[in-house]
Amino acid sequence: MRVKVSLPTDNDYELMHEWRNHPRIRLASRSAEFITYEEHQIWLKKVMFDPLVCLFMFCVGKNRVGVGRLDIHGVHAEFSIYLNPEYIGKGLGLLCMKELLRFSFSRQGLVTIYGETFATNISARKTFEKAGLELLQQEGDTKFVSYGISKKTWIRNN
Ligand SMILES: CC(C)(COP(=O)(O)OP(=O)(O)OC[C@H]1O[C@@H](n2cnc3c(N)ncnc32)[C@H](O)[C@@H]1OP(=O)(O)O)[C@@H](O)C(=O)NCCC(=O)NCCS
Repeated sequence: MRVKVSLPTDNDYELMHEWRNHPRIRLASRSAEFITYEEHQIWLKKVMFDPLVCLFMFCVGKNRVGVGRLDIHGVHAEFSIYLNPEYIGKGLGLLCMKELLRFSFSRQGLVTIYGETFATNISARKTFEKAGLELLQQEGDTKFVSYGISKKTWIRNN
């Protein structure tokens, strides 16, 4: 099964709103509040015109299977990822994560990427680790853990 990255269309923006409000995705998000369509539109307008934010869909053929985001800081970026709730728990997260790494390093020219999740989010942690990301040293809030990987390590692993 080949996962590919594609730019979102108008239909995808609606899907993102639906998926983002699914209980599984809300539980994994910093803000677990329900997001209204108006709030979603305001957020979308902000990120769509921000050259430092890259928002994309993960696709398998014509199926939309997840959403990825890169918040770019020079040659580094913070990533976030969530699956179409229909596909959660089926192992697709790893394929999407691997594609996110390929996209970040070979198409976006990034040098490191990193991401944060709740320490209790075992699915995310296992997915990040299987994709080759390393747990980063963290001070302070132990509710969250951060994972990262450099392009150098990614190339060595692939
Ligand atoms: C995180 C996410 C992308 C992972 O993708 P996924 O395909 O659903 O991952 P899975 O549920 O198959 O879990 C990955 C691994 O963790 C294991 N796992 C999950 N929960 C577990 C638990 N409680 N105890 C032990 N292992 C667990 C799974 O068995 C699987 O292991 P395997 O690869 O050896 O089979 C997806 O679950 C998701 O979109 N979650 C909501 C959003 C989110 O959490 N995003 C990450 C923060 S940015």
